[in-house]
Amino acid sequence: MIEVRRGSELGESHRHAITRIFVEGFGPDLVFFSKDPGKLTEALAHMLVLDLFHVGLVAGEPAGIVACTDGRQRAVRHDARELRRHLGLVRGTVAHFAFTRMFERPLSYGGERMASLEFVATGSRFRGQGVASAVIEHLLALPQYDEYVLDTIADINTPALRLYEKLGFTEFKRTKVHHKMITGIGAYVGMRLVKAP
Ligand SMILES: CC(C)(COP(=O)(O)OP(=O)(O)OC[C@H]1O[C@@H](n2cnc3c(N)ncnc32)[C@H](O)[C@@H]1OP(=O)(O)O)[C@@H](O)C(=O)NCCC(=O)NCCS
Repeated sequence: MIEVRRGSELGESHRHAITRIFVEGFGPDLVFFSKDPGKLTEALAHMLVLDLFHVGLVAGEPAGIVACTDGRQRAVRHDARELRRHLGLVRGTVAHFAFTRMFERPLSYGGERMASLEFVATGSRFRGQGVASAVIEHLLALPQYDEYVLDTIADINTPALRLYEKLGFTEFKRTKVHHKMITGIGAYVGMRLVKAP
């Protein structure tokens, strides 16, 4: 049985466990900053706006996360000093500029009755057990939203694309990128779901 709670309801005592899932999900994209998941967890924990993270719990343990916002607030807000404290001057400074560009610009999607879903991740040992599905289904049932958008999904991320398709999302945007030789990614996909009236 998967229970879904807001990170802010679980409270500060769960911040590290929630961040650990973030790191397990996105650690491969963060290896420049550190290859050590424990160090990354320490460095990034302060950034997560817990009120916007919805957490899937398996037997009471955080197993998966999805951030949901109407765009007024971003789900991640970092402190450059804190990044430098954990990652060192050079990597901390690079992280500051990278995170500002990637995570903290205004969102293209979101607004009244429209939610933007971000940072969908399931802890490695909980994958394939329906955790991400349960958290997203919970968000799709929220009465305040009619439309949901997932932006910037790598076209090679088959688990994510299948997950979203299975839940009823359809592609509405595909932006070609020019780093396929390096990353293997040919395009970023945007998907959306409009609730039936
Ligand atoms: C994508 C991710 C969140 C899926 O989480 P999950 O909890 O394992 O997903 P679920 O168990 O709810 O799976 C639901 C559906 O997704 C698809 N899916 C999940 N993992 C898959 C995989 N490895 N290969 C193919 N399809 C997969 C399937 O359609 C699955 O339905 P099924 O079990 O009936 O076959 C997880 O693999 C993850 O954390 N990946 C790293 C972070 C990431 O890439 N996030 C997405 C960013 S856009």
